[in-house]
Parts: sequence; C-alpha cells; structure tokens
Amino acid sequence: MLFALTREISPRFAECQLTHLPRVAIDIERARAQHDAYEWALVELGCTIRRIDSAPETPDAVFIEDTAVVLREGAVIARPGAEPRRAEVPAVAAALARFGLPQHELAAPATLDGGDVLVVGRQVFIGASARTNVEGIDQMRRLLEPFGYRVRAVPVHSCLHLKSAVTAVGRDTILINRDWVPADAFAGPTLVDVDPDEPHAANALWVAGPGGLDLRGDGVVIYPAAYPKTGRRLEAHGIRVRAVEVDELAKAEGGVTCCSLLVKFGRS
Ligand code: GLY
Repeated sequence: MLFALTREISPRFAECQLTHLPRVAIDIERARAQHDAYEWALVELGCTIRRIDSAPETPDAVFIEDTAVVLREGAVIARPGAEPRRAEVPAVAAALARFGLPQHELAAPATLDGGDVLVVGRQVFIGASARTNVEGIDQMRRLLEPFGYRVRAVPVHSCLHLKSAVTAVGRDTILINRDWVPADAFAGPTLVDVDPDEPHAANALWVAGPGGLDLRGDGVVIYPAAYPKTGRRLEAHGIRVRAVEVDELAKAEGGVTCCSLLVKFGRS
C-alpha cells in the first residue's frame, strides 16, 4: 500500500515564505486546481490520498514534505528552519501517528526541512541549506545510522532546498542541477542533468509502488509540465514522466516533492 499525505492550501497561501524568488501575485483558486490535479496524478499511480486540513496561520502548510521524513523504519518529525512554519508540524505528526509508525522528533537547536533530505537506497543526503543546520544533520545521523543508513551533508546554494537541486528519478538515478549542488557528492547513481535552459527543473517526484498506471512496477515521475526539455531528457533515459501543471504552486517556492509525504507499507 502506498499512501500520500497531502495538505489543503491555506487561505493565506499568498503570504508564504520566500527565500530566492520575488513575491508575485498568486491565484489561489488556480493553485488549488493544480493541487487537486497533482493529487489525482498520485491516485493514478496507485496512491491512497490522506489530505490534512490547513489553516490561515499556516500559509505554507501545503508543502507538507518539510515537516517530516518518512522511512520504512519510522518517521522523523522535523523542526523547520523558518520559525513560522513550525506551527505546521503538530497536525502532520498526528496524521503520521495514525499509521502506527515509530516517531522521533528533532530537538532544538536543530533545524531541518524535509525538502533538504534525499534518500537513495540506504544513503541519506542532507542539504546544508538556509533551513537545515549542522545540529539537524547530526541528529539525523545519530538517529538513522543505527538502522544502516549512511548520512552525508551536502552544501546547497542559490536555491531553497537540496531537493530544489537534486531528486531521485529511479532506484539508482538522480536528476541534478550541478550549478546548485556538487555532483561529486552523489557518486554511484546515474546522473541526469537538467537542461541548461531550465535551472529549476531538478525537482521530480519518483513514485515507485504497486498499482495504477505503474504497470511495470519500476516507477513513474510526477514532473512539472513547465520543464519540457528536461522532461524529454528523462524520457530519453527510459524514465516515465507524468506531467503536471504546478506553476502557481512554484510561485510560492514549492515543487512536486514538497506537496506530499509518501508512506509505504509492504514490498517496494
Ligand atoms: N514557501 C516555501 C518555503 O519557503 O518553505
């Protein structure tokens, strides 16, 4: 079973945090329609959606990925680097608790956004970004290494999160913008570079699970329609792409990984 935990768009979405992008007008109804379509793409790929309510005081809540890291062994409840975003955390922790997974909360002074955590097999890459500090990375290392994960800090610049610059697009393949993260940190996996005309194109959501459109069982990436050149590069590597329109969500500095937390039970 593959669940996708998502979160409703807040009525004050337009007051979101912004770090690298200028504030521009956001059409909230268009953002909501894009978010609905994103959830439908997840359903087509075999996910069961569990959508949590949102509230005016949590403008960024739709970017649920930043509030937790979900692994087979349990969930780490994050401590987001932007202080106003910490109000998003309790509702997500409560929703994750309903899955019965063990939970561990990061403690101050650690800060960590889930968008800075990229898991590739037993390797966990954590972005040393404006949102995630050394203490956050150290606490993750202490938590995860006893389970056989190898935690590695990766410097990130010119973008919000590690996963703005690099994401998994298959079991052993990653999509990367080498201008924002050092490629040599990712020795081992096959690297697919974003098209030079599309620097924001490295954020893809790989959904590997049973059912739906995923007939071969090796996964599909949910991917922004705004980046067709990089999308064609992925397809040239044999990666199946399910395009979604998410440009209204992108104005709030959110990508396709940010809008869900995948919780998997059973064989991958
Ligand atoms: N607006 C997304 C973030 O800053 O966390």
